[in-house]
Amino acid sequence: MNSPPSILRYGVIGVGMMGCEHIRNLLAIENCEVVAYADLHEQSRQIAASLVKDAKSYVDYRAMLTTEKLDVVVIATPNHTHRRILEDVLKSGLNVLVEKPLCITVDECREVIAIEAQTRRLGRVVWVGLEYRFMAPTARLISEVKSGTCGDLKMISIREHRFPFLTKVDNWNRFSRNTGGTLVEKCCHFFDVMNLLARSKPVSVYASGAQDVNHLDEIYEGERSDILDNAFVIVDYENGVRGMLDLSMFAEGSKNEQEICIVGSGAKIEAMITDSIIRIGTRDGGRNGVTEIVVQQPQGVVPGFHAGASFLEHCAMQRAIRDQQPSEVTLHDGLVSVAIGQAAHISITQHRSVAIAELLK
Ligand SMILES: NC(=O)c1ccc[n+]([C@@H]2O[C@H](COP(=O)([O-])OP(=O)(O)OC[C@H]3O[C@@H](n4cnc5c(N)ncnc54)[C@H](O)[C@@H]3O)[C@@H](O)[C@H]2O)c1
Repeated sequence: MNSPPSILRYGVIGVGMMGCEHIRNLLAIENCEVVAYADLHEQSRQIAASLVKDAKSYVDYRAMLTTEKLDVVVIATPNHTHRRILEDVLKSGLNVLVEKPLCITVDECREVIAIEAQTRRLGRVVWVGLEYRFMAPTARLISEVKSGTCGDLKMISIREHRFPFLTKVDNWNRFSRNTGGTLVEKCCHFFDVMNLLARSKPVSVYASGAQDVNHLDEIYEGERSDILDNAFVIVDYENGVRGMLDLSMFAEGSKNEQEICIVGSGAKIEAMITDSIIRIGTRDGGRNGVTEIVVQQPQGVVPGFHAGASFLEHCAMQRAIRDQQPSEVTLHDGLVSVAIGQAAHISITQHRSVAIAELLK
């Protein structure tokens, strides 16, 4: 196994909104450089060029993979392209960070896991961009639960109340066939956090949701957008923990875009993500004993679009590469987060509880 280079050379595939966000974060981190990027869309390439003037621009990512000397590839293309692009990048043997969701279905995720197993190289890091776990208040909540502050964890409730989906290049995110559906596309982040908190396997999922308000009159090439904009999802875990996601994408009037609340046998802990506040209240202390903590970002973190999460994600991935350690956010994490979202969509369509084993058998 070769030792990792002192300066990590990055190539970014897909330099739309999120690809450029990765570039901005990488520019703020020492000992790495973005040497190339690839995108089919000229305007996206122009925006990337304005961020990294010396980097080489490609239309075809395969040309970038064969021409450039890279250490790490970031894949930030639309969700339905991840499976194909991952296959090529995994076969190149390079370290890779693939944006969430890993892929749009469980079957695709499993194919990727099989390709990774065939192409595995000692020390190669494969990382899924489930970055919400790195947001400072979320990370603090996870660490409080791990250290036993709440006693025996029983209930997890995650609320995301936010604005509608933004417009994307060629409007790819207006159709579930491209995104995997809202509960895969957006909510894989929250199912990943739920899985980390529960520290158990999801067993079954029940969901209710619909497209009630957003994008209803948007027609693209004769086809109406089919993006679900609100849902409740209930997840039962093997160890008895129960989780609930409450999603609304027509809730701009929210003080916090995300709120996480967990209750254990001894205490309740809440994380207000936008306000970066944690509240801890024990059963003994009652409502007057609730402690409120402002969670500070670690020093030097660039906040970016996701409260410092992208910056921290890259720092953690680079540590793994340099220390030749395994990925902290694995393909398996990506798979399970997609499985819950996919099960939730099946549950909504078929009006029934869905066993995760139906998908992961
Ligand atoms: N981590 C997060 O919180 C977060 C936030 C937003 C988006 N994302 C993810 O990032 C990915 C990209 O989303 P986005 O918001 O940047 O979309 P976007 O539409 O802004 O950008 C996607 C870019 O990929 C390019 N592209 C498409 N197919 C390509 C191909 N075969 N080769 C090269 N380039 C190609 C498009 O031309 C476009 O420029 C998605 O998987 C999305 O789910 C993650």
